[in-house]
Amino acid sequence: MGLQIQHLLGLEGVSAEDIKLILDTADTFYEVLQREIKVVPTLRGKTVVNLFYEDSTRTRISFELAEKRLSASPLNFSASTSSVKKGETLKDTIRNIEAMKIDMVVVRHGAAGVPYFLTQCTNAVIVNAGDGLHEHPTQALLDMMTIRQKLGKLRGFKVAIIGDIFHSRVARSNAWGMKTMGMDVVLCGPPTLLPQHTHSLGVPVTDNIDEALEGADVVMMLRMQLERQSSGVFPSIKEYRERYSLDLERVAKLKKDILVMHPGPINRGVELASTVADGNNSVVLDQVTNGVAVRMAVLYLLGGGESD
Ligand code: CP
Repeated sequence: MGLQIQHLLGLEGVSAEDIKLILDTADTFYEVLQREIKVVPTLRGKTVVNLFYEDSTRTRISFELAEKRLSASPLNFSASTSSVKKGETLKDTIRNIEAMKIDMVVVRHGAAGVPYFLTQCTNAVIVNAGDGLHEHPTQALLDMMTIRQKLGKLRGFKVAIIGDIFHSRVARSNAWGMKTMGMDVVLCGPPTLLPQHTHSLGVPVTDNIDEALEGADVVMMLRMQLERQSSGVFPSIKEYRERYSLDLERVAKLKKDILVMHPGPINRGVELASTVADGNNSVVLDQVTNGVAVRMAVLYLLGGGESD
């Protein structure tokens, strides 16, 4: 049985069966990635366009690597060096690229809903690599893969997601996905970064970090997205750090084996102290490693690859 979804636009509404199938397939690809020869022929002949309208390090490189590991042909499009600069619309851009016979599109864009829009103007399979403040589904999948790898399962474990909830597509995708997988999720941040619509995610929301961290098995610190903020969201970095950052003193009060996660890039010394980011509880680089396997799984399952 394959996936019920045809595109990966977000984790809202994606079934537990589909998420489990992606994570199980990612575990298989993780094993492949430990071998000397890390390439499988499953997507040979398929062309995947990485359509990036926003900056990225982890997501863009891991998608490209995943495509190469699956023997697909990746094409990298960066809006900043394209005819978007001459005013070409998104619709014209994708229709011109599709005219060159491509199979899949991985898209990152600053506007929420762009991946869905692309499904309306192309026949290619669409994978969301982050759309505005909406979702970042492959990030949440790699986060869940990492937790399952470390804790053995997802159901019943408590995850505290802390920081700039307002601007975080990572928080939204994780809230949807983790809730579906039976995890106990709590969102925490300063009141000005907890918009009213956060409550529609159906998970508890608090501005009290101690309450959020009570009994947590996993803490996910979010990047303070200063580039998306207008002034006045919080008084100062110093005050934010005092109330909401994770340092060794705070970690010492938590479960001894708590997993510390961060989607990256980290603002060291703002939301996360370097001593914690590089400390024994940190699984930040495991998340990055697992990103390749998860993206291989998503591309393989949506791309109709044959098993070898
Ligand atoms: N986590 C994440 O999306 O990182 P990049 O912005 O570097 O892709």
